[in-house]
Amino acid sequence: MTDSMRTVSAGLLKYLRRVSLREPDVVRKLRDATDALPEAGWASTPEQCQFLALLIEMIDARRVLEVGTFTGYGTLWMGLSLPDDGEIVTCDMVDDYVNIGRPFWNEAGVANKIEVRLAPAEESLQDLIDEGKTGTFDFAFIDANKKGYPTYYELVLDLVRPGGVIAFDNMFWGGAVLNDSDTSKATRALRGLAEKLHSDERVSISMLPVNDGLSIAVKRR
Ligand SMILES: C[S@@+](CC[C@H](N)C(=O)[O-])C[C@H]1O[C@@H](n2cnc3c(N)ncnc32)[C@H](O)[C@@H]1O
Repeated sequence: MTDSMRTVSAGLLKYLRRVSLREPDVVRKLRDATDALPEAGWASTPEQCQFLALLIEMIDARRVLEVGTFTGYGTLWMGLSLPDDGEIVTCDMVDDYVNIGRPFWNEAGVANKIEVRLAPAEESLQDLIDEGKTGTFDFAFIDANKKGYPTYYELVLDLVRPGGVIAFDNMFWGGAVLNDSDTSKATRALRGLAEKLHSDERVSISMLPVNDGLSIAVKRR
């Protein structure tokens, strides 16, 4: 086993995008609008979103849960990968960000599939449980406040069905998880979650070096 992994150079990333990215025009337009924001770096990358969309297609997902909408770039990719009767519940706290995505969701014809919940994600997830939505989601993407990941995980695990998939973004946290002197709440939460997932018999897992680290958990049947 080698003890390092090939890093994706700018040239390789450009190649990867040229030979594999299928970003629809409307999605690219939302990416351009997002790139104009100071917080542009919060958005998921196109190849990462295409991978999430592929996972959704692979498991025939119909109901998707997203924790952290931002401008809805990932939401749009996922919305387009769902069947006509598919649904996404996406959670954020900042209407101004979500409103950037809405015209593009409309243009793409997926706005009718998307329900936005504007509140701290922990509350929105608990509300869904209280509304009886336990076990009703096929796929979830966790990408909000990093400190909240361990809490989101437990709530989302309740909300996905057995066989359902949970994807966690930013599990590398820009490499901060390796830095022992970084004891910030976010970094500790991400380290703790990675360790918990490693030994959690309720799920099958894989941690992938996609973008800033993407962990995938499948809820065991
Ligand atoms: C990394 S961005 C999400 C990116 C998006 N998933 C994508 O694919 O482009 C994180 C989002 O989480 C939201 N957020 C942060 N803390 C939150 C909380 N406690 N509850 C709900 N949303 C939160 C932020 O407002 C921000 O829009």
